[in-house]
Amino acid sequence: MNAVTVVAHAKLTLALHVVGVRPDGYHELDAIVVSVSAPSDTLTVEYAAQDQLVVDGPMAAGVPTDHTNLAARALAILRDHAIDVPPLRMTLTKEIPHGAGLGGGSADAAAVLVAARALCGLDLDDNDLAHFGAQLGSDVPVCLHGGMTHMTGRGEHVEPLPWSGPFGVVIAVPSFGMSTPAVYRAWDELGGPQSTREVRPSATGPALRNDLEPAAETVTPALISVRTDIAAATGLEPLLAGSGSAYACVVDDAAHARSVAATLTEACPHLRVFGGVATNVGVSLG
Ligand code: C5P
Repeated sequence: MNAVTVVAHAKLTLALHVVGVRPDGYHELDAIVVSVSAPSDTLTVEYAAQDQLVVDGPMAAGVPTDHTNLAARALAILRDHAIDVPPLRMTLTKEIPHGAGLGGGSADAAAVLVAARALCGLDLDDNDLAHFGAQLGSDVPVCLHGGMTHMTGRGEHVEPLPWSGPFGVVIAVPSFGMSTPAVYRAWDELGGPQSTREVRPSATGPALRNDLEPAAETVTPALISVRTDIAAATGLEPLLAGSGSAYACVVDDAAHARSVAATLTEACPHLRVFGGVATNVGVSLG
């Protein structure tokens, strides 16, 4: 085997409760997170004479190709722990928008860990990968685990939830991104508000809320018109994804997601719209 290709799925927070602040400034979360089929990035890892990171695809603009990219840092962290990883060429095709709250960089880091283990036959189990992943970023463990999960701590505790999928998911992303640290800072400055806006995707389902939504909409008030535009076009109540800037609507199934996505694309050409389903994997090995 000379190359391995994997698909890195975006993650969507269906509910995000901020339940405390740690002495180090990180926030304690109690969240329900699910992997989605779209958007997703594709990563190919192959043996090479020297390390190389190539980034292409519709969302490649502005993505660094140096050591600061989380994909490169994922390789570095393996080597920092004396794991023998030979030089690799990584080709990352980006579809997950940056700064959307969909865990794009974290999904890429998770993909590198999984692909490097598969290509190089590394003697690492899933717990080892999650341990390295948590050092790379708060969302990497949840992207590694995939499926429907209960995420707590700063993101390092991930427990599987009973799989209630696949249900449809429509994600709409404006042309601007959000800074996650700025949104958490705003949440602190606002006195740690609980969101009062609850969304109930189905009559029988639970009410969902994202406590970062009031903070994100304070940092960037333009988010409010994005939310109201989506609601007006679809008749659905969107929920902010993570710290934004994407909003998501949960719908019945893939066909429903496709029709809502088509309606939204026509009504709101300024939004990048994805219609897909919840998936039960974070990184799919091709
Ligand atoms: O862990 P990660 O580098 O992805 O986090 C980015 C930033 O988001 C942190 O520096 C912190 O400001 C904020 N954050 C937080 N609490 C979390 C996750 C992230 O305050 N649970």
